[in-house]
Amino acid sequence: SNKRRTIPELRARKGKSPIVALTAYSALTARFVDPYADFILVGDSLAMVEHGMATTIGASLDMMILHGQSVMRGSEKAAVVIDMPFGSYEASPQEAYHNAVRILSETGCSAVKLEGGSHLAPVIAFLTARGVPVMGHIGLTPQYVQTLGGFKIQGHSSEQQDKIKQDALDFEAAGAFSVVLEGVTEPLAREITDNIAIPTIGIGASSYCDGQVLVLEDMLGFNDKVPRFVKKFAHLGDDIKKAVSDYATAVSNRSFPAEDNIYRPKS
Ligand code: KIV
Ligand code: NA
Repeated sequence: SNKRRTIPELRARKGKSPIVALTAYSALTARFVDPYADFILVGDSLAMVEHGMATTIGASLDMMILHGQSVMRGSEKAAVVIDMPFGSYEASPQEAYHNAVRILSETGCSAVKLEGGSHLAPVIAFLTARGVPVMGHIGLTPQYVQTLGGFKIQGHSSEQQDKIKQDALDFEAAGAFSVVLEGVTEPLAREITDNIAIPTIGIGASSYCDGQVLVLEDMLGFNDKVPRFVKKFAHLGDDIKKAVSDYATAVSNRSFPAEDNIYRPKS
């Protein structure tokens, strides 16, 4: 719908005010994020956060589409960007295009995001030439967890720095409208942000980026343990534990349902 932020509007924010983004996986949570976010990311982190998987490798195209449809129903103002899941875009530009078309056409979202580096520039060029806006994702790329040997901060060695700088330049040249920089050291984030003309969206990548994104459930405090780069803006996990415990007590001692919660016959 034309009420949403457009991809050119996001692209044009480079050098202006920071881009605000959060993840959402459902209409329920998208409704809270939509008024404040420039874009909502339907991240493949949903495999871990929502489906209890150990990594994002198990996210499927059907899962991304189902959650993307839900987020579209719960939002009206933010642009919606949906992650292409592991295995859906790496093999060939044609296969990536076929799967990106499914994501855009079956959800109505504005863009897809894909992880990797310079080797994916041909895929990005193929998609963007055909009307599929692409956000890149470089640095700590969770879909490469098996290759990286864990979720590890990138950019400590000069080899990593050179690679990630080249990834950013190649993604920009291939036509990506923005790039997520995840889990990289501050000077690297700053240098990349200064050296490309498209907005960088940071997560664990310092305040030098042109925008920020966090996983909603992390910043809401659903989980006790979160990485250093997450700030908990609420402690909903504690609230939910208390609510469920209070409910269990009330049911056990028959104080719930109370007078307010029951139906008396009409007399
Ligand atoms: O899947 C996700 O939530 C993401 C963000 C962390 C950038 O890719
Ligand atoms: Na992701």
